Amino acid sequence: MRTPTAEVRQALPLVTVRGLKVAYDATTVLDGVDLDLFPGEMVALLGASGSGKSTLMRSLTGFAPVSAGSVRVAGHDVTNLARGELRTLRSEVGQVFQQFNLIPRLSVLTNVLTGALHGAGPINLAGGFSSAHRRRALELLDRVGIAHKASAPARSLSGGQQQRVAIARALMQRPAVILADEPVASLDPKLADSVLGLLREIATQDGIPVLVSLHVLPLALAHSDRIVGLRHGEMLVSGVTSQLDAAALEPLYDDEEHRDDDHH
Ligand SMILES: Nc1ncnc2c1ncn2[C@@H]1O[C@H](COP(=O)(O)OP(=O)(O)OP(=O)(O)O)[C@@H](O)[C@H]1O
Ligand SMILES: [Mg+2]
Repeated sequence: MRTPTAEVRQALPLVTVRGLKVAYDATTVLDGVDLDLFPGEMVALLGASGSGKSTLMRSLTGFAPVSAGSVRVAGHDVTNLARGELRTLRSEVGQVFQQFNLIPRLSVLTNVLTGALHGAGPINLAGGFSSAHRRRALELLDRVGIAHKASAPARSLSGGQQQRVAIARALMQRPAVILADEPVASLDPKLADSVLGLLREIATQDGIPVLVSLHVLPLALAHSDRIVGLRHGEMLVSGVTSQLDAAALEPLYDDEEHRDDDHH
């Protein structure tokens, strides 16, 4: 079993990053980043466009060129993985994206079921799923509030509903950690609140740490236990949310007008 006992999960961080440096050719994108994610907490990742939020998330699943420092995720040494370990690592990290990344023509239920295949090799939808898988997928859809849409094609759902399907799909993996890169950037404020509320409920109830990057400060202040802020790839803010306010986060965006703002 890869899931540690409840006792261990309470004591140990699921993610530990120390002195992380990531460089693309001569350009340093992250420099000296430290991060811990403990069971049950929701951590907001802030920073202007280009500050390195997505790169930090990618480094947790072995998708970034790490040039110094250490990255441990769910017991894996990500900078020094054994053969075949990368797939296991990725199967243990649930991911939620701004654009949901569902398969539009497939049913909501099938989209959730694909989470069970994550890391299990090439997806073979013709192979069928066990009834236990289907039962679990339906339970998860019920939990995220859209069981009534199980047989609808994913493309027929609203953005907020699609993101709930994507969260159910991530849970289908039984993830040790959830990474959500701007999961509410395409949603209106009310839906953004409800999706972040759902992610935090999952963190709290299931003990799964959630790292969520956000561009809207009030959302980060309302929906996180801790905040980590990047500026030009350096960690400028790291603190408990209840001890931070908008003024404390302002320096993260000080020179935003000088930054390249047109990429995501
Ligand atoms: N594959 C790559 N090759 C070269 N440079 C890259 C690559 N990926 C990211 N970068 C650079 O790394 C920096 C950080 O990018 P990243 O996508 O992590 O920022 P971000 O904080 O997620 O921004 P946004 O808020 O716009 O999503 C940027 O300057 C970007 O151009
Ligand atoms: Mg990004």
